[in-house]
Amino acid sequence: MPIAFDERRKIFKLDAAGSSYLIGIHEDRYLAHLYYGAYIPDDNLTDFARRREYASFSASDPDRKDPSFSPDTCPFEIGGSGTADMRIASVAIRNADGNDVTDFRYVSHRIFDGKPALPGLPSLYEETPGDCRTLEILTRDDTTHAECVLRYTAYEKYPAITRSLTLKNGSGKTMEIERAMSLCLDMNSADFDLVTLYGRHNQERNFTRRPLSHGLQGIASRRGSSSHQQNPFLALISRGGGEDHGEAYGFNLVYSANFLGEIEVDYNESARVILGINPDDFGWRLAPGEEFTAPEAVMVFSAEGLGGMSRAFHRLYNHNLIRGAWKTKKRPLLVNNWEGTGMRFDDEKLYAIAKWAAETGIEMFVMDDGWFGRRDDDTSSLGDWFVDEKKFRHGLGAFIDRVTALGLKFGIWFEPEMISPDSDLFRAHPDWAIGVPDRKRSEGRQQYVLDMTRKDVRDYIFERMKDILGNNDVSYLKWDFNRNVTEPGSALLPPEKQKEFYHRYILGTYELMGRIVDAFPGLLVENCSGGGGRYDPGMLAFSPQIWCSDNTDALSRVDIQFGSSLCYPASVQGAHVSASRRSSYETKRNVAMWGSFGYELDPEKIREEDRAAIREQIADYHKYYDLIHRGDLYRLICPWDDPYKCAWEFVSEDKTEALATVLVKFRTEGRNFFLRLKGLDPDKTYVFEENGEEYSGALLMNAGINLFGMPNEDGYSKTLHFTASR
Ligand code: GLA
Repeated sequence: MPIAFDERRKIFKLDAAGSSYLIGIHEDRYLAHLYYGAYIPDDNLTDFARRREYASFSASDPDRKDPSFSPDTCPFEIGGSGTADMRIASVAIRNADGNDVTDFRYVSHRIFDGKPALPGLPSLYEETPGDCRTLEILTRDDTTHAECVLRYTAYEKYPAITRSLTLKNGSGKTMEIERAMSLCLDMNSADFDLVTLYGRHNQERNFTRRPLSHGLQGIASRRGSSSHQQNPFLALISRGGGEDHGEAYGFNLVYSANFLGEIEVDYNESARVILGINPDDFGWRLAPGEEFTAPEAVMVFSAEGLGGMSRAFHRLYNHNLIRGAWKTKKRPLLVNNWEGTGMRFDDEKLYAIAKWAAETGIEMFVMDDGWFGRRDDDTSSLGDWFVDEKKFRHGLGAFIDRVTALGLKFGIWFEPEMISPDSDLFRAHPDWAIGVPDRKRSEGRQQYVLDMTRKDVRDYIFERMKDILGNNDVSYLKWDFNRNVTEPGSALLPPEKQKEFYHRYILGTYELMGRIVDAFPGLLVENCSGGGGRYDPGMLAFSPQIWCSDNTDALSRVDIQFGSSLCYPASVQGAHVSASRRSSYETKRNVAMWGSFGYELDPEKIREEDRAAIREQIADYHKYYDLIHRGDLYRLICPWDDPYKCAWEFVSEDKTEALATVLVKFRTEGRNFFLRLKGLDPDKTYVFEENGEEYSGALLMNAGINLFGMPNEDGYSKTLHFTASR
């Protein structure tokens, strides 16, 4: 039973595959956080909330039952605002009197099988009946009559708990939410390092690790998207812990817009972690009776370091987040024309690529940016989703027919949320672009962002997309988003609701994405934002894969993929072999195979010897597809630990097959080594495909495989394939 309530002790115990999370109802009806970590069998933690005696300068309620108690020192599930709990608030509501004192206390709870969907927001789901169980706790501020429902779901197969909250206005007057953080976790110690993923366009999700220290630290986006710059992911790893050992707590927000993840280490040496919608430039008015649901936060615990944490995220997301026809169906191997042609193409040029693809064994041709309006460069036409008849002399339908006649599927690129100043759409509807009165709009890539808070805008874009997707044989959609939001404002929102803009924007985007996915259930959607600028679990609820980065150079890409793997599975990672400067086709393949594999090049420029290599790669893509998409990832040598080389490995769930890849990033003299595998069955015997030798799993993991003879050259890489013989 993953969630239980001990009536006598007033303790909720959530157990999720080797982890436990305990919440107590304090005698003054506070919701106290008691414990989160490795599984414990019992719940005798009644004194855990009493972490420290009443301290000087700690205020408290004169009518409290326990004279030694102060909210200043108690670990909570909700960090109130303006109360005697002086740490960062997780919830703050400004009431009709103008103050923001917010103090939620327990009222009632219910525990039930499964998991409700969140209104308007993507969230994880119950994959098979009974694989998760939910606890909802109703709390109330007795003075303002605001209510907060905390929702926790524990997963039976994965050490994961998801949490969201709904705020309700139970009073007769309008209130304004100023903060509604999805996660609030008071750790019982601050003895951790913080791991986050920072980046930029072309170099997303770099791993960084720093010790927690007193005061505030954290990550945020104010870009209107989850961003290239900081991913909505953070982890705490116990000091001295690492890839395979130590306690690791991972937190990820199922949200694709402005977020804040913050940790405060307080004077009690405890750490409060909050994660949710960025309260900067956020506010939400609640009229009497109205409610607001905040996005879902995912918590994963592993006692086996960051590696164990990542594998739990991967399985959880593959099973309980990604949905639709392509969740388990084998994704087609694709070629995309973007890096090969840019926007300078016509139907004959594209047909030549498709023809080469069909002859080579590729399964789908994806037509990228440049097929609509007068889009020969990025100065115009976004919003004018009408086929450019100069490029497609016989129409798009006729072109798609030619492509599908080759035996290929056809995919198409859209950037639905954007509008070019030089477009018929903007000339007709200048107020459809995001902006604020009397102020010039900033341009990003010479484009503006459409006001997705507006239903008329979404309806128009939906109709244009439906026209193209519904009247043609289209199997795949690349949904792009190539700038961030500035001058945030909607012409339709009254001044007092302009603070709701950013959240309403993403709700609008989710609504449109949901409509497209529902209208075209067979469509494979790949998300993209200048590469990986919206690489987040919110997007994964609509698209089972995301273009990982515009950087397709294998030697830089590998770092991006390592960082991404902290919480995102290989199956979602769009990764293509391109004609980029450095690296052999062998290395490009080895890196791109760690993901949803494809090509992105102009075949005219491929050298004869590389053509043969590409055919072999395609055979390998099929051979290893299941292992990579469904297997467990082990990071063997991480780029953040070793600047010279890296290695990773996929192991099948039943441990009968493993594929390891090692890559020399920079040659160093005399640095040959034994590559030690992970995750095998020590008692099984494995055959090394390269030489037919047999080794025990124990030998491969403890002694390793001798790579002394491996060429020590910049960019050299090789794969090592093992199958269990017994
Ligand atoms: C973004 C994407 C690219 C490509 C271009 C087209 O940068 O990441 O893959 O689609 O847009 O303009």
